[in-house]
Amino acid sequence: MIQKQFAIEVNNLVKEFRQKNRTIRAVDGVSFQVRRGEIFGLLGPNGAGKSTTIKILTTLIPPTGGTASVLGYDVVSNPLDVRKQICVVVQENAIELYLSVRNNFQTFGRFHGLTAKEIDQRSARVSELFGLKEFLDHKGIDLSGGLKRRVQVAKMFMVDKPMVFLDEATTGMDTFNKRATIDAIKEESRKGRTIVLTTHMLDEAEQLCDSLAIVNHGKVIAHGSIDKVKSMGLQLLYVNLEFKKVTKEILRNIHASRPMKVDVRDSSVEVTVRDEQHALKVLTSAKRNRTLQHFEINSASLEDVFVELVDKKERPAS
Ligand SMILES: Nc1ncnc2c1ncn2[C@@H]1O[C@H](COP(=O)(O)OP(=O)(O)O)[C@@H](O)[C@H]1O
Ligand SMILES: [Mg+2]
Repeated sequence: MIQKQFAIEVNNLVKEFRQKNRTIRAVDGVSFQVRRGEIFGLLGPNGAGKSTTIKILTTLIPPTGGTASVLGYDVVSNPLDVRKQICVVVQENAIELYLSVRNNFQTFGRFHGLTAKEIDQRSARVSELFGLKEFLDHKGIDLSGGLKRRVQVAKMFMVDKPMVFLDEATTGMDTFNKRATIDAIKEESRKGRTIVLTTHMLDEAEQLCDSLAIVNHGKVIAHGSIDKVKSMGLQLLYVNLEFKKVTKEILRNIHASRPMKVDVRDSSVEVTVRDEQHALKVLTSAKRNRTLQHFEINSASLEDVFVELVDKKERPAS
């Protein structure tokens, strides 16, 4: 029975941050499952809610609503049992800067109750696996940003926790560091560990993950195996509408057909929808408005949509 259970089950998870005069809904009804032994990716642009989701799953912060369980333990009612099963690389760097790489491994191993012999064996293994042998005697502070990150990820594999969370593990790494880290993470997952990672890079998710959820603005917009998500990607459509003038009413009607995304640029509106049926709905509502001048429907690849989401987020908010 235990075998059938998902490693992670997240149902309608919500996290709101209350600030002085507004509430930020960082996670807005997220649901997904992770199978045991797989590498699962949370993919999405900056600010999508990935780190917040990871923080809830690793019991660092409580959810505002919904449920999440890790290896059968609820993160709210059983946080201690969750913590016993997991190790976490947070997005912020956390290596001991004044210790050598070797000492970083040793301290971490000791903290987790490994014997001296185990520490030696595992330090040797992770430094081999992550290509860190030549840096064992270097102090943290003397390493490049990418290498610091690699040491931090490597540390997590000193201990045999069944569940590993990596938040932006390869962010800031050069191509060589990234390659070594990706290979090592893959190698570790072959041993049967379940790995949940976040990334804002599609190519990285494709190289690493068995399945993934794409999140944007706190919502899951696609979920499944890489192949499934890709095939969904082929169905995404852009509906381009050109009006004399874009009014509030036009936008209200478009939003009523539940599009995935709406971009307004001067007198044109680009609506991203899930399938033909939604495209037709958008078109029907737009045609009701007499000022529609021109329309076009184009198919978009997942990459197109994703790149666009990332781009949008990096521009000043409109
Ligand atoms: N402690 C917090 N207080 C207020 N807002 C927060 C806090 N943590 C995250 N946020 C906001 O929640 C949203 C999601 O953030 P985050 O989960 O870090 O996104 P990601 O990891 O996908 O880049 C962002 O708008 C961010 O500013
Ligand atoms: Mg983050």
